[in-house]
Amino acid sequence: MQYPYANFIQQSFSNIANRYDSLNSLLSFGLDRYWRWQTVRELRSAPPGEFLDLCGGTMPLALALTRRYPKRQVVCLDFCAEMLHAGLKKPEIASSQRLLPLCGDAQELPFADDGFAGITVGFGVRNLSDLHRGIREMRRILRPGGRLVILEFSRPDNPFFKPLYGFYKNLLLPVIAGVLSGDREAYAYLASSIEGFLPQNKLLRVLTECGFAGVKARPLSLGIVTVYTGIVAD
Ligand SMILES: C[S@@+](CC[C@H](N)C(=O)[O-])C[C@H]1O[C@@H](n2cnc3c(N)ncnc32)[C@H](O)[C@@H]1O
Repeated sequence: MQYPYANFIQQSFSNIANRYDSLNSLLSFGLDRYWRWQTVRELRSAPPGEFLDLCGGTMPLALALTRRYPKRQVVCLDFCAEMLHAGLKKPEIASSQRLLPLCGDAQELPFADDGFAGITVGFGVRNLSDLHRGIREMRRILRPGGRLVILEFSRPDNPFFKPLYGFYKNLLLPVIAGVLSGDREAYAYLASSIEGFLPQNKLLRVLTECGFAGVKARPLSLGIVTVYTGIVAD
């Protein structure tokens, strides 16, 4: 099935694929590593089995999973082949026997039911055209006791920090990123998609509606991002 703005998303990521990692670190002042570290550790009590990193892009989160869990296989799925190719240029990923990149759509997962022990999604759910469908797919392929961990941008509510962050995200970021990446539209989309995305309580409600138990939201870095977790009840 072709979703409304999937082509725009794919094209935007393919335009910036080779610069994605360095831009990410630069624009987040290096915080992206810390955010991924916090995400990956949420899977420490997952049941035995493989992990899946969805919307994995250049595979930074999938790589962090292989490092932290040296006995697990990790599949990394993304629908933008250029992002996966850019990830495969990293020697540690190219030579890994435990990391399998796969091109596919997170809303129509090519996996059997109950197959995975844990799923991570870093900065991906915001881009899904049909969020419920995507989350239901994640629920379907997780085994009982399996865990879903979502890392996503959120909106800080600290009254002092909020205007400063708004200025950076809406004005500075699209300009700096546009110049450095050569694709200003992609980063203007980033700012507007953060603004238009669901607040924490609503995303938690979607997780519950799609069958996850014990859902929690943990804001990091004054709420610039939030780590969401949900469990498949045994
Ligand atoms: C902002 S990047 C995040 C990459 C990586 N997870 C990270 O932490 O840096 C979002 C990725 O989601 C992918 N994506 C968006 N919608 C998708 C979908 N429906 N199916 C698969 N991948 C998707 C894009 O191609 C892009 O690589």
